[in-house]
Amino acid sequence: MTVRIVPVTTLDPAPDAAALAQAWNDVLVATTVATMGDDHDAWSLASRRAREASTSWSHRYFAAVAEVDGADRVVAAAELMLPLHDNEELALLDVCVAPEHRRRGIGTLVHDHLTALAREAGRTTFVAETAYLKDGTDPGEGFLERQGFALAQTMLRNDLDLTDLDRTALTPRNGSATAGYVIETSTDDTLDEWLEDRAHLQRRMSTDSPVGDLEFHEEGWDADRLRAQRETTRQSGRRAFESVARHSGSGRLVAFTQLQVPTAEPVLAYQQDTLVLREHRGHGLGAAVKAANLAALRRELPQARTVRTWNAQENGPMILVNEAIGFRTTATLREWQRRRG
Ligand SMILES: CC(C)(COP(=O)(O)OP(=O)(O)OC[C@H]1O[C@@H](n2cnc3c(N)ncnc32)[C@H](O)[C@@H]1OP(=O)(O)O)[C@@H](O)C(=O)NCCC(=O)NCCS
Repeated sequence: MTVRIVPVTTLDPAPDAAALAQAWNDVLVATTVATMGDDHDAWSLASRRAREASTSWSHRYFAAVAEVDGADRVVAAAELMLPLHDNEELALLDVCVAPEHRRRGIGTLVHDHLTALAREAGRTTFVAETAYLKDGTDPGEGFLERQGFALAQTMLRNDLDLTDLDRTALTPRNGSATAGYVIETSTDDTLDEWLEDRAHLQRRMSTDSPVGDLEFHEEGWDADRLRAQRETTRQSGRRAFESVARHSGSGRLVAFTQLQVPTAEPVLAYQQDTLVLREHRGHGLGAAVKAANLAALRRELPQARTVRTWNAQENGPMILVNEAIGFRTTATLREWQRRRG
């Protein structure tokens, strides 16, 4: 089988380019379904488009095309992600071969193509992910080991069933613990007046949350980058809910949490980052901002049935907060890394 690797763009509305982008995305979804079943987290085409337009990261998409039954078909789909503002030695790779075309060297061919481009861009640390349902496996692990990657971090995918929620877990713990802080909620993403403080919190998110053996370094965040991220979320067709804790003494934001919900299918909400600044921990602020956000989600989108989050296995404090609310593990996600290209 002769395989060609061609670039894909989701931003060109011309019929041929749009058809290739659709076929490419279909392979990404099919490979995810093969490992995760219908309860998967593959990005929608709208999200892929919004990510490709991002200015913080370069997202380059590729298809491996081969003749199958007399017609050209996409047999593998791939993405190369390069951070542009920070972590400039890093490249994230995603290689997905359609299940019926595996073990013929196509994955290796695509991997080699991505890594050559990453090296040309000066990247020396490569990271890739695998994911599987609880008690499952992912063929990607054997593949990545063969390519010289080592396991760097294990994340647990934890789901909260909103239809079976212990409402007391959502009662904000006001009173003595959170006295001195005010919880504020926005049902439409990060508010303009929060941006400066939120940029500081987002920088701390990149240094204060556990990264296992991954060589991730501090990210450079400012108000403009957060504005751009807000735009990416909107263009992805997602709504974002955000709650923050304001320290009454200083007037500064000291904690935040964010949920995103695809508007096309608002039954599943994604719990994004949560952070309490170190010096303000121990006051129940993590639970308080999460409770306020979940209450807003239930009010605004009562059709939401599940909230999904990923937590580093070693992140005991976050897992304890989530377990108390009612989150349960449904899948595993593992980060793999290869240093010096
Ligand atoms: C992982 C994946 C890309 C491999 O694609 P592929 O075309 O089958 O890979 P190759 O044929 O190039 O395999 C090269 C080598 O990797 C290893 N490998 C591949 N699949 C494997 C598996 N299921 N179990 C163990 N080792 C495996 C083998 O050493 C293989 O060589 P061999 O076939 O001579 O034994 C494909 O299974 C896939 O799309 N999985 C889902 C997405 C994913 O997990 N991607 C990896 C993260 S980027």
